Amino acid sequence: EKGGFPSFMDKEIHDQPQAVHDTLLGRMTAAGRLTLDEIRVDEQVLRQIDKIIVIACGTAAYAGQVAKYAIEHWCRIPVEVELAHEFRYRDPVVNAKTLVVAVSQSGETMDTLMAVRHAREQGATVLAIVNTHGSTIPRESDAVLYTHAGPEVAVASTKAFLAQITAAYLLGLYLAQLRGTKFPDEIAEVIDDLRAMPEKIAKVIADSGRVRQIARWMADTSSVLFLGRHVGYPVAMEGALKLKELAYIHAEGFAAGELKHGPIALIEPGQPVFIIVPSPRGRDSLHSKVVSNIQEIRARGARTLVIAEEGDDAVLPFADEVFFVPQTPTLLAPLVSVVPLQIFACELATARGLDVDQPRNLAKSVTVE
Ligand code: BG6
Repeated sequence: EKGGFPSFMDKEIHDQPQAVHDTLLGRMTAAGRLTLDEIRVDEQVLRQIDKIIVIACGTAAYAGQVAKYAIEHWCRIPVEVELAHEFRYRDPVVNAKTLVVAVSQSGETMDTLMAVRHAREQGATVLAIVNTHGSTIPRESDAVLYTHAGPEVAVASTKAFLAQITAAYLLGLYLAQLRGTKFPDEIAEVIDDLRAMPEKIAKVIADSGRVRQIARWMADTSSVLFLGRHVGYPVAMEGALKLKELAYIHAEGFAAGELKHGPIALIEPGQPVFIIVPSPRGRDSLHSKVVSNIQEIRARGARTLVIAEEGDDAVLPFADEVFFVPQTPTLLAPLVSVVPLQIFACELATARGLDVDQPRNLAKSVTVE
């Protein structure tokens, strides 16, 4: 069943181009329009929503955080992302004009299910982005957009994460199309760009020899930091989560802009730091700001492990290692930049002799609150 791979996680990392491809399949026309008829929510309701709240746990919540940047940009609707267990036990401002998007691989996470029930009691419309057919969360939601990642066996989520980002992006583009967008041409462009992603993800996996080697060399490391900005911020947190879950070592992800407000105190000689660098072709000055961050931490003796876009030579003087990923538009970059981090965690944990499919203390689906 592992298809010749040493672990389910390894197999599922390799399944990612297919998972993204299958999640896109049949949901867009050649002419660059979204066809999400499967979302059986009255279009009038979707036109009137004035807020989106994404609720999820773990990796699914990081997919939601990535999607926030894209949906707000395309739709000009405020998007909040909240851990389901936090949402449930405060007094969230939710009403009939709120679209709650529940993201879950298993569709059974009790924290997320309780938040779904709470949101519906308050009159919100709940749309589930779920991977497992016939599970509870879609049954209790108003609508469902399935991710087509196929069964995910390894406890640590990989291909479901990429499929969740893809599905949430389709939802964002669909809402933009339905409600009218400031960027009508951009929708068709993004659709083309999404179609090109499976091949780019496959290339990152094919080129992963160096990141695997570095991970094996770092098997004894006791702490790794991850730094990212904009959509790279949730990617940094997901990279840290993977390493905690699989290798049981201290790992922390933080926003690159926050560095000077605290985390820089952690930087000492030899500290490994992954930095996810935004595209130099992106709109504003994010790229140069993150490159300055690399410079600052390098100057303090940290070991910089940089994920950058192919052709981005500006990072070379400050990087101890660079893992290049194919060029993509900024919003789609997480689909490639997270992959070396997944592979790093999987390989490092394997080098420590750990079972990457069944990490200690964790369960694939947590059906208690
Ligand atoms: C955790 C799993 O318990 O639940 C994570 O270990 C997962 O891998 C999280 O991201 C949420 O699960 P689900 O099924 O709701 O996406």
